[in-house]
Amino acid sequence: MASSSNFGPVQNEKYEEPSSFLYVGPLVHCVEFGQIAINDDGLIAVKNGKICAIDSRANLKQVALKHGISEENFHFLKYGEFLMPGLIDTHIHAPQYPNAGLGYEKSLMGWLDDCTFPIEAKYSDKKFAEQVYNSVVKKTLANGTTTACYFATIHLIGSIVLSESVKKHGQRALIGKVNMNANHPDFYGETLEESLKDTEAFINAIHSLKQNALIKPVITPRFAISCDMELMKKLGEMAKKYDVHIQTHVSENIDEVEFVKTLFPNSKNYTDVYDSAGLLTNKTILAHGVYLTDEEIKTIAEHSSAVSHCPTSNVCLKSGICHVRKLLNNGVKVGLGTDIAGGYSPSIVEVMKGAISASINLSFMKGEEECVLNFQEVFYLATLGGAKALNMDDKIGNLEVGKEFDALVINLTEKPSDIDILMPLDTMKLVQKFIYLGDDRNVKKVYVSGQLVKEI
Ligand code: GUN
Ligand code: FE
Repeated sequence: MASSSNFGPVQNEKYEEPSSFLYVGPLVHCVEFGQIAINDDGLIAVKNGKICAIDSRANLKQVALKHGISEENFHFLKYGEFLMPGLIDTHIHAPQYPNAGLGYEKSLMGWLDDCTFPIEAKYSDKKFAEQVYNSVVKKTLANGTTTACYFATIHLIGSIVLSESVKKHGQRALIGKVNMNANHPDFYGETLEESLKDTEAFINAIHSLKQNALIKPVITPRFAISCDMELMKKLGEMAKKYDVHIQTHVSENIDEVEFVKTLFPNSKNYTDVYDSAGLLTNKTILAHGVYLTDEEIKTIAEHSSAVSHCPTSNVCLKSGICHVRKLLNNGVKVGLGTDIAGGYSPSIVEVMKGAISASINLSFMKGEEECVLNFQEVFYLATLGGAKALNMDDKIGNLEVGKEFDALVINLTEKPSDIDILMPLDTMKLVQKFIYLGDDRNVKKVYVSGQLVKEI
């Protein structure tokens, strides 16, 4: 993937943006699953980071007057450009970024032991953590990820370093210090007491970053194999006490599912392990869910928990293919995740393509055409679906008055780019081109909460 992004000054990566401005041109977003709504003559006005008006070009003067927006803060999109909501990565391991693209000879359990735990162990080193975390945050923002739900490592200081990088570059994020007190290698693990103490300290550290409302802590038991029941129950209580999100992995790989059965013989299934620990809430994100049974899907839906679909990872690690349509039909919230470094790419655009491709392969395997996801559906999963999965759709996910201005200006005509527009295309077709052929070179501007955080 080519990179041609420029970032602002090092001491403050955010550009100085006037407190109010507006855009005129095609507005693209989802209100409902599977439907992309386009307003070609749209107008969107922003004040103090929030969308204060959605209107049309014809009403430019009135809107500007009403919201006190001066002419120098009018932006007009040209042909080949459109404005869309920021992309949401519901599952990404920031410390694994150096391993992206590597180690896919292995499957999940071998890959964790040989590739993943060794790299994660390095994040006791603050300098290394700073270097990698700055890179991953810059790279995901360059690709249009305005909100990321990150796993850090077991290290308290390293996890705080990630939150500092996120803050410095102006991304919106959920960040979790990982919990691991069971079945871990000697060089990478913690006791129950350390795990609880550092998790609580991390939550307090994030909550005391008062000037940054963009970052939330998320309780992060790695998966049922890495945490004993006592720890998981105590983490469930902590999530309740602080009213914070929870994230973990579920039913990603067949060997993993079998191992969980042997560790928790009294549980009905993998999901039930988390249910009995009190870890399933309306703010829980479960990564993968490839091998969930109908009973588990029902349990997840009843708790309003979400699944993060990570198709590029599921292919790289040869885990399997998640039946996204079945989850959605049963009322489970679904977002998309890069799952770096299980997935090779930091780009949610790449994951959109991966989700379409995985769904088509699943339809061949099952002989069920219904499995296929189209470009409108994956666009929803990457935006409003992700916001719902993170239980943040009151703030982000689409372009509605009152929501935060987390948005991208997409350009398909400027070079360098993989896209050639050789005949007139309507905006829906431009969106389709972006999903199939687009990359960070087409992400011209990125806004988080009204702040410009990338401009080419
Ligand atoms: N299951 C437990 N830990 C991990 C991880 O780091 N990546 C993936 N893909 N699955 C996991
Ligand atoms: Fe993961």
